Amino acid sequence: IKPGASSLIIFGASGDLTFRKLIPSIYTLFKKNLLPNEFFLLGVARSKFTEEEYRQEIKNRLLEENEDNFIISKFIEKVFYISGFYDDDSLYLDLKNKLNYLDKVFNTHENHLFYLSTPPNVYLEIIKRLGKFNLTKESENSYSRIIIEKPFGSNFNTSKELDEELHKYLNETQIYRIDHYLGKETVQNIMMLRFANIVFEPIWNYKYIDNVQITVAETLGVEHRAGYFEQAGLLRDMFQNHMMQLLTLVAMEPPASLEDTSVRDEKTKLLKAIRPFEKEKINEYFVRGQYIEGMINGKEVPAYKEEKNVNPDSFVETFVAAKFLIDNWRWSGVPFYLRAGKRLKRKVTEIAIIFKDVPHSIFAKNDITLEKNALILNIQPDEGFSLKIQAKQPGSKLCLNTLTMDFNYDEFFKFKGPDAYERLLLDAMLGDQTLFVRSDAMEISWKIFTPVLEKWEEEKHNGLRLYKAGTWGPKESFELLSKDNRSWRNLDFESENLYE
Ligand code: BG6
Repeated sequence: IKPGASSLIIFGASGDLTFRKLIPSIYTLFKKNLLPNEFFLLGVARSKFTEEEYRQEIKNRLLEENEDNFIISKFIEKVFYISGFYDDDSLYLDLKNKLNYLDKVFNTHENHLFYLSTPPNVYLEIIKRLGKFNLTKESENSYSRIIIEKPFGSNFNTSKELDEELHKYLNETQIYRIDHYLGKETVQNIMMLRFANIVFEPIWNYKYIDNVQITVAETLGVEHRAGYFEQAGLLRDMFQNHMMQLLTLVAMEPPASLEDTSVRDEKTKLLKAIRPFEKEKINEYFVRGQYIEGMINGKEVPAYKEEKNVNPDSFVETFVAAKFLIDNWRWSGVPFYLRAGKRLKRKVTEIAIIFKDVPHSIFAKNDITLEKNALILNIQPDEGFSLKIQAKQPGSKLCLNTLTMDFNYDEFFKFKGPDAYERLLLDAMLGDQTLFVRSDAMEISWKIFTPVLEKWEEEKHNGLRLYKAGTWGPKESFELLSKDNRSWRNLDFESENLYE
């Protein structure tokens, strides 16, 4: 669906996220004719570009991506820019005047979608001043919405403070906390798979599921983001947000409808059911690691501590594995093992639902061990899912093997769906909050992780496990499962047999 008249005002318009993700997504929406006909983009930032220079910068970057010169020229006719300091009232006066003017020219009905793509320490300055200049007010015919990037606070207290401040100027219906994982096609498909099919839901519980494994492995290191990552660490960067979203989608109860409140209510309920981590027991449930030098795709890469702008004595974690338990009827006793890390062996995001053994194996007498059935949701890069079942291998009477029933998005649908930012920007213009994080969910998620962060802050290097870049993380991550007589799914095997 194409949204009605809207503008998009990006704070931090000369920053990395804007140029790398936002502009290409908006441009693609424009190219696909999915943006409203009445639309303009206004960039706001500290960098002293003139409007012409800003347009030129966008043009150059899109040309580098081999985009079409003619479409780019049409697109940048809708792009504008103002510069100034975020704590200076005069910027907001300029902004207000510019919006008045552009709203008239583009007939955008004063519908303003603001995007905070700035460092988080200026979020409040911006919101306060938007409030002061009456730009957060909505009327019957116009909206004012704000998309906020993570990190949303750095622990339970700071995120709560930030949230309370925001609510002085905005209603929850105006706040769109973005988690780009929710915009991924395959992440959205989790709900379709679970709730549009009857075959999975009856067995989606403690009676049939032995454990669930969520892996988000990256080959990238910290790249040029050490300044941010040294403050954040992997737990804040990936677990508090993306990993929790994946977990809730897999584990939540069926919502009554697809309406945003219903879905978000179920997610919150699930987060509340996660067993809290007692500080003394955190090391039993969490493994944190940091990469040392190693090889990624045949190339030598340096240790985290040797990366540019990283403290050579840093104890910031670049890998986390953890075991979660959910205290509700459906998941009683089923462990959810989650791991995410930088500089791992290959890029893969997947959710593996590992089923229980058959109650009685008629093959046991013949010394045949049956592999557990598994349903793998491949989030990226080979989007799709696979079901692993046991089947007879041709030949000897009693030879069984694992058979994989595979569905691959690209092969089947032959076209790529919208990228995560495209989807989420459109949803924000449409006023659909389903794929954005609600205040209460965010709060609970911080509550879960704050004791862990505190514990690690106290222990510093103590307990930080080193792992070689290009591996699957520290050995303690494997021990986390082996002490439960389980093991991580072998992702090397998967890569060799299925996708290469
Ligand atoms: C971001 C994190 O939110 O997600 C990054 O800040 C991480 O550190 C990225 O690399 C991973 O996203 P994707 O879409 O590449 O899986």
